Amino acid sequence: VIIAPAPQLARLAADAVERVVRPGEVNGHRPVIGLATGSSPLAVYDELVRRHTEEGLSFAGVTAFMLDEYVGLPADHPERYRNVIEKEIASRIDIDPADVHGPDGLAEDIPAACAAYEQAILDAGGVDVQILGIGTDGHIAFNEPGSSLASRTRIKTLTRQTREDNARFFGGDIDQVPQHCLTQGLATIMSARHLVLLATGKGKAEAVHQLTEGPVSAMWPATILQHHPHVTVLVDDAAAGRL
Ligand code: GLP
Repeated sequence: VIIAPAPQLARLAADAVERVVRPGEVNGHRPVIGLATGSSPLAVYDELVRRHTEEGLSFAGVTAFMLDEYVGLPADHPERYRNVIEKEIASRIDIDPADVHGPDGLAEDIPAACAAYEQAILDAGGVDVQILGIGTDGHIAFNEPGSSLASRTRIKTLTRQTREDNARFFGGDIDQVPQHCLTQGLATIMSARHLVLLATGKGKAEAVHQLTEGPVSAMWPATILQHHPHVTVLVDDAAAGRL
C-alpha cells in the first residue's frame, strides 16, 4: 500500500504500465495491459498520454483488455465503456484500435461472447499489468458483493448502489443506467501478473480498509486481492482514512 497525493499515485501507476510496455515483448508475448473505466484511472491515462507525446512512449504492438462493459448500450453511446476507453486513452496514443478488446455488451449469445473473451486473454498471453479502481461497496470491475471468488467473465446484475454511484455519468438519472453488465470475473482479474489498484477520496475509505485489512470475503470482492502475489494499492490520504 502506498499513500500519496493523487498526482503521485497516477505517476506510480503509469510507471507500472511503462515497465511492461517499454521493453516490447515480455515473457514471449507482446505486452498486454488491462484497462479500467471509472474516474480513478483517468489521471493515469493522462500521464500515459503525456509520456507518449512528450517522451515517445509507444503503445504500438501492445494489446489491451478492458475489465467490463454495460449490456445493451447502443454502439455509439458515450457511456459505453468501449467508447469511454477510446476517448480517454486509446485514441490519444498509438495503440492499434484492433488491439483494444472489451467484452461485447451487444452480443446475441452472451455466454459465448464471455467465453471467447476469456480465450482471447489467454491467447494474448495473459494480462501483464492490470489497472483497477474499486467501488464504494468493494467491487472490482463489476464484481459486486456476493460474486464468486472463482468467477470468470460473465453477465452480472448491477447493484442499486453501483447504479446510484454511476448515475452521474448518465445525467444523474439512475433509470438511464443499465441493469446488467459483462465483467471479467475475480479469477480472471487474479490471473493478471501485476494488479495496480487506485482509490482516492473518503468515499473509498471503507472499501480500502476491507481490501487491505478485512477478512477475504465475497461480500467485499476486492479482498480476494490479498491472495495475489503482486498487488500495488495506491491511495490518497482520504481513502487511507480507515487504515
Ligand atoms: C465502475 C467500474 C469499476 C470502477 C468503479 C469505481 O463501477 N466498473 O471498474 O472501479 O466504477 O469508479 P470510480 O473510479 O469512478 O470511483
